[in-house]
Amino acid sequence: MNIVNARLRGREGLYRIELAGERIAAIAPQQAPAEAGPGDIDAASNLVVPPFVEPHIHLDASLTAGEPAWNMSGTLFEGIERWSERKALVTFDDTKARAKKTIDMLVEHGIQHVRTHVDVTDPTLSALKSMLEVREETRHLIDLQIVAFPQEGIESFKGGRELMAEAIAMGADVVGGIPHFENTREQGVSSIRFLMDLAERSGCLVDVHCDETDDPQSRFLEVLAEEARVREMGERVTASHTTAMGSYDNAYCSKLFRLLKLSGINFVSCPTESIHLQGRFDTYPKRRGLTRVAELDRAGLNVCFGQDSIVDPWYPLGNGNILRILEAGLHICHMLGYQDLARCLDLVTDHSARTLNLGEGYGLVVGRPANLLVLSAPDDYELLRSQGQARVSIRGGKVLLRRTPARVERY
Ligand code: FE2
Repeated sequence: MNIVNARLRGREGLYRIELAGERIAAIAPQQAPAEAGPGDIDAASNLVVPPFVEPHIHLDASLTAGEPAWNMSGTLFEGIERWSERKALVTFDDTKARAKKTIDMLVEHGIQHVRTHVDVTDPTLSALKSMLEVREETRHLIDLQIVAFPQEGIESFKGGRELMAEAIAMGADVVGGIPHFENTREQGVSSIRFLMDLAERSGCLVDVHCDETDDPQSRFLEVLAEEARVREMGERVTASHTTAMGSYDNAYCSKLFRLLKLSGINFVSCPTESIHLQGRFDTYPKRRGLTRVAELDRAGLNVCFGQDSIVDPWYPLGNGNILRILEAGLHICHMLGYQDLARCLDLVTDHSARTLNLGEGYGLVVGRPANLLVLSAPDDYELLRSQGQARVSIRGGKVLLRRTPARVERY
């Protein structure tokens, strides 16, 4: 199969992309617009990109909002209360069915790589068992990374350390953490040392819910970054949320950023969820409750956007469309300058792929997997402005979906 009349990010002109089996066989410039041959796809001068990536989601909680009760205040704390009611009803099959339905929503928006956090503070590890099966059963749609996520703490939850180790032994791909939720600062610090040891021993990646609070005293990011620096594991480590950084003062941040750069760790921001859940203890002026996305990016650190939740007790909206998150995030983070707009897809493609350590399994490069999207616009800016979509999603050289554009009839 070939794709003709494709535009590529950062390059002039039109291209022909040849797929052979499950690999990209050739990418060649065209002198002029070409006719699509039988079985070929005409990109019609629109962008062709590698698939979108979802670097942070909780598939085990998705599609549960309102069951049995809605979060009426919209706060994180009522979310935890509502989730504890729903958690009592969770079964192995229920988790699997909701996760698969949510994966379909992601796939329909061109996502083919997903990192999901799965709550392992449950002595039965039922959700993890479900997700391990889902990872196998959805391989034809997505590559799924499973994070062993200690929702109720590693040190503060009875048997937390053992459950984390068991989850990794059972096949989770990534070691998680939640240091700001541990009962004391000391427990937060020791939880990071524990999880970094576990990752180093097992060869797993690391993704920590880190400082997801407006409390400027929540400073576990420096601990995580220093552990990553000393162990030379930065590329394999991700700090998710880090919303407290939005409340740190600039003097502390100038010191912190030096360490972050030395550590080389990755960052995920979930802008729609953070603007919804943070700032809840403020009257006015009211904080945005996000990490310093633009500043991290300008400092050359790797930062990307994730959805976090889809229709769960913490966040009632979401439809799987990562471009919706990108648009909101760019607004909230003061990133609508033309330079940012012109390369905004980095935040949901290449940067996220780097966070997930996808390496040579990702990208429009000859020899790499034939996974790609044909989008509905010629460049990043126009795709965002027009609220564009993935028109075609190809995985392993086969078409996964085609979307027919909506037709408007005017009279
Ligand atoms: Fe999260």
